[in-house]
Amino acid sequence: MPTTIPVYLQHDPIKLILLDQTKLPIAEEFLYLDTRQSILEAIKKLRVRGAPAIGIAAAYGIYVCLSQKEYQSLADMEQDMKELTEYFASSRPTAVNLFWALDRMNKTFTEYRNKPDASQAEILASLLQESQSIFDEDQEMGKAIGMHGLSLFDKKRQWGVMTHCNAGGLATSGYGTALAPLYLGHEQGYQFKVYSNETRPLLQGSRLTAYELTKGGLDVTVLCDNMVSLVMKEKKIDAVIVGADRIAANGDTANKIGTSGVAILARYYHIPFYVAAPSSTFDVSTETGRDIVIELRDGDEVVNGFGKRTGPKEAQVYNPAFDVTDASLITAIITEKGIIESPNAEKIRSHLSK
Ligand code: MRU
Repeated sequence: MPTTIPVYLQHDPIKLILLDQTKLPIAEEFLYLDTRQSILEAIKKLRVRGAPAIGIAAAYGIYVCLSQKEYQSLADMEQDMKELTEYFASSRPTAVNLFWALDRMNKTFTEYRNKPDASQAEILASLLQESQSIFDEDQEMGKAIGMHGLSLFDKKRQWGVMTHCNAGGLATSGYGTALAPLYLGHEQGYQFKVYSNETRPLLQGSRLTAYELTKGGLDVTVLCDNMVSLVMKEKKIDAVIVGADRIAANGDTANKIGTSGVAILARYYHIPFYVAAPSSTFDVSTETGRDIVIELRDGDEVVNGFGKRTGPKEAQVYNPAFDVTDASLITAIITEKGIIESPNAEKIRSHLSK
């Protein structure tokens, strides 16, 4: 299991603790945050990132920020809850777990706010409990995804597994999603040779995935994104597993930019392409991938990444952070409830209702 949890709560004094992932792989530095501005900045700048971890950070962030004040009235507290929700929701548009977690916190707030003897302390206690449940459920979901994902492999031979971006412990509160079967299998004696695509422009594949897998004792090889076709052709890859930021009702899946290219190549080379994600990453209100909002980020990440200028200031830069993989390219989606083979709207609906 990954050793460093990237997002958690400190109770006394109340703070959101985040591993600053922009500092990896050089240093493990933690941030102790208790203001809405610092929490928003941390999500926007990818100090905390990965769909489930963003959701957990926002949930704890609501509790932490509301705990800092003595409100004159519950109406004032309610107004602040509304403002905080809108503020955190403005941080990153694609990962649906953010909105899912904020929605859970709001439902809890409303439930306790509407009780006849509602008090600020009780509302806060209920928000603490809800944010803690989001964290705990995420840990359980990682283990369950790992277990279901592992059923796709066996111990008879070594498996070459490619992943893209980081959908491991650093993106969640536990085993991760795409990396969960690999961690679990490693603990049980399965042999995995992991190929981690570097993931331009912010290098989550080499800075984060390779970092946490080597720390966990797994065999990992870093590839530049443009090497995918070659290593697939060389028959080094038996399966691809990636995470997801939002899965539409029909199975179209938004994930880190470059994922759809990997899926197209996997289909060409007859390699199974798996998406691993919890139920909270499904957005059944979004019919297809065409309706998923793709985050556009600062062009400097591409031509001046990590403070090193690699392109002229005068050039225009296009920097979408995610792309959408067509459901037809996905061999199966692995969730905490099981495996959806050749996903489509009907199978997804019945799987989620289990
Ligand atoms: O921009 P990031 O680093 O937040 O993007 C993360 C990804 O694309 C992950 O694959 C996804 O959030 C799944 S994390 C379990």
